[in-house]
Amino acid sequence: MTWVAGSFLDPAVLAPHGPFDRILAVESFQCAGPPESSLHALWSHLAPGGRLVAVMPNAACPIVQRAVASLAGNLWAITPEAMQAELAALPGLARYAMRGLSFGADQWVSPYEVSPWAADAAAWPLANRMMIVVERRSA
Ligand SMILES: C[S@@+](CC[C@H](N)C(=O)[O-])C[C@H]1O[C@@H](n2cnc3c(N)ncnc32)[C@H](O)[C@@H]1O
Repeated sequence: MTWVAGSFLDPAVLAPHGPFDRILAVESFQCAGPPESSLHALWSHLAPGGRLVAVMPNAACPIVQRAVASLAGNLWAITPEAMQAELAALPGLARYAMRGLSFGADQWVSPYEVSPWAADAAAWPLANRMMIVVERRSA
């Protein structure tokens, strides 16, 4: 494994090591700037047939909205609808899936309840987080 320090928004950081078959971005989109910028930056480093998995705050959640407001300029979030539009427009897209993560009833066992896969966020209206899986077409 090679450890690289730097911003994934900077092509010079990842390009020498890619393209990548798998990219995991767990709770990093919200700290890097507008989530669509992070999505596009990482997508550009994904190999044909590769898969990107990301977990991020759901901007439709009132708790997230308050956090983004109080940390304006340092914390970002995107709604499921806006993320879905970004995913659907990715060049070379094979398929994508989304689901919500809501606060668990038993936080000791697991902090989040995970919804079924459903791009329509009406299926997971209370989600505090969302997970996306997006796959690039094979060459
Ligand atoms: C909320 S922490 C999450 C850390 C860890 N992934 C986790 O789930 O516990 C956000 C992380 O995103 C990283 N981050 C923020 N902007 C980034 C960027 N442009 N490129 C790479 N990582 C970034 C920060 O360094 C920080 O480690």
